[in-house]
Amino acid sequence: MPLPALLAPSILAGQHTRLAESASLVAAAGAPWLHLDIMDGHFVPNLTFGPQMVAELRREVPAGLFFDVHLMLSEPQRYADAFIKAGAQLVSFHIEPALDHRALLAHIRSQGCQNGLVLNPGTPAEAVEPFLGEVDLILVMTVQPGFGGQAFRRDMLAKLSRLDALRRERGLSFRLEVDGGVDLATGRECRAAGADTFVAGTAFFKAPDRPAFVREVASW
Ligand code: DX5
Ligand code: ZN
Repeated sequence: MPLPALLAPSILAGQHTRLAESASLVAAAGAPWLHLDIMDGHFVPNLTFGPQMVAELRREVPAGLFFDVHLMLSEPQRYADAFIKAGAQLVSFHIEPALDHRALLAHIRSQGCQNGLVLNPGTPAEAVEPFLGEVDLILVMTVQPGFGGQAFRRDMLAKLSRLDALRRERGLSFRLEVDGGVDLATGRECRAAGADTFVAGTAFFKAPDRPAFVREVASW
């Protein structure tokens, strides 16, 4: 049985001078998760916001909204604790920078937070294979990270299928998330390839009926 499909709207596509309102809109639409993109201007060529913003959002939006924090940082080990303290319920970080990934995965869990590992489009599934038994989530980027509004990379579907197959073979139950260019059409293709957790920025905020968007993803 596949895990139930869930939508994680990305606040990156919200209005940055009014992020609390954008996050409340996500909660009001009935989305179970909120995806928060943290960029350092080094690992990716863009900047967003830090732990203080996350902490303030945590206080302003309903407690039921799950905070899925995606760290696009060269040194996630320096900042993970600050985001956990701010209210992150899942912290994911990339496999590409050189660091002790195993130690950071364990550390995040030791703080009572779920963990996740992220792969850029150019990184093969094999890179995360040794960690699959130690993660709560694998995030497959379906665009080069840094900016919202990019075109979905269909060539990532094979990577999703591969990771889903490994998950079954090993009897594991981590979530398989996709991020970048996801809408109701590309998301369905990802679902067919094994994804269960769908980040959508542009498509969600532009949707004429956001609650219907949330319900449709949940029906997959
Ligand atoms: C990209 C971010 C995404 C982004 C997706 O670097 O990780 O979470 O918000 O935006 P859309 O859905 O517009 O591609
Ligand atoms: Zn993201």
